[in-house]
Amino acid sequence: MSSAARTPIGVTARVPAKVNLELMVGPRRPDGFHHLATVFQAVGLYDDVSVELADDWGVTVTGPYADQVPTDDSNLAMRAVRLLAGETGIDVPVHITIDKDIPVAGGMAGGSADAAGALVACDALWGLGSSKAVLEELAAELGSDVPFALTGGTAMGSGRGDRLAPVLGRGRYHWVFAMGDAGLSTPAVYAECDRLRATMRVHEPVPSASMMSALRSGDAAALGKALSNELQPAAISLQPRLDGVLRTGIEYGALGGIVSGSGPTVAFLVADTERGLDLAVALTASGTVSVVKRAVGPVVGAHVVTGPTGRRSS
Ligand code: C5P
Repeated sequence: MSSAARTPIGVTARVPAKVNLELMVGPRRPDGFHHLATVFQAVGLYDDVSVELADDWGVTVTGPYADQVPTDDSNLAMRAVRLLAGETGIDVPVHITIDKDIPVAGGMAGGSADAAGALVACDALWGLGSSKAVLEELAAELGSDVPFALTGGTAMGSGRGDRLAPVLGRGRYHWVFAMGDAGLSTPAVYAECDRLRATMRVHEPVPSASMMSALRSGDAAALGKALSNELQPAAISLQPRLDGVLRTGIEYGALGGIVSGSGPTVAFLVADTERGLDLAVALTASGTVSVVKRAVGPVVGAHVVTGPTGRRSS
């Protein structure tokens, strides 16, 4: 085999967004992060992260959110590639292209998805064959949600959200996402959560029995009732219109609604595709939301879709 045949010139990884089905926020830790007990679900809204050998390191972002993403060394995908290169002693420049469909600063871990995609794609491009454990360790250095973006499915997150355990769940769930016009900064939402709870005694976060039993049964109506997010009051405090969006979704038949992570995306669970279409139309017509997307979950985490030949494999 020639070296050109062995060395891929480009690899694309596809990475899903996430929604937190439950997000319990405990006390602030000495390192500034909060203790969490959360249940993540990966949903079928994707960023595609492509890497190719190049003369110099660089990032290009395409898609509807391109102008909101930095293309310098602060880009999380670039930081991921640099970290993997540093850990493995590789000094082969790559150019990263991110085709972005996950909202920026939307509470759906779009930046984390790009970091996870960059790790998986560069691992393949450089032929490293790193174990899942090694990639997960690097992922946790890059951000609290990055390990989950690698793993996908439905999982419990503890620590600062980076320590994962699989959840034995059933069911395929239909989601409708109401996107915000302006994003919310995650640190600002956690800070607002601290401010709102300043006089309260904050307990260690514990996952709820109702969430686990809803997931075990695969009952979408029970899951809709069990959705909860302790960052939601803080997100609503910073963007009061979210309260109206949540009420509109429930009024138009959602089984449950929740601010996704730190927001401002609002996630609605619906019974099936048809109810999802109806709700998407109703939300758009209500004038409270400008962009609505539908997706199913759970889906798999970051995975290579295009290999060395440039042919899409799934
Ligand atoms: O880990 P990540 O970079 O995604 O976190 C972004 C910010 O969100 C942190 O700097 C912190 O302000 C806040 N955060 C937190 N507790 C967590 C996760 C994130 O306070 N468990």
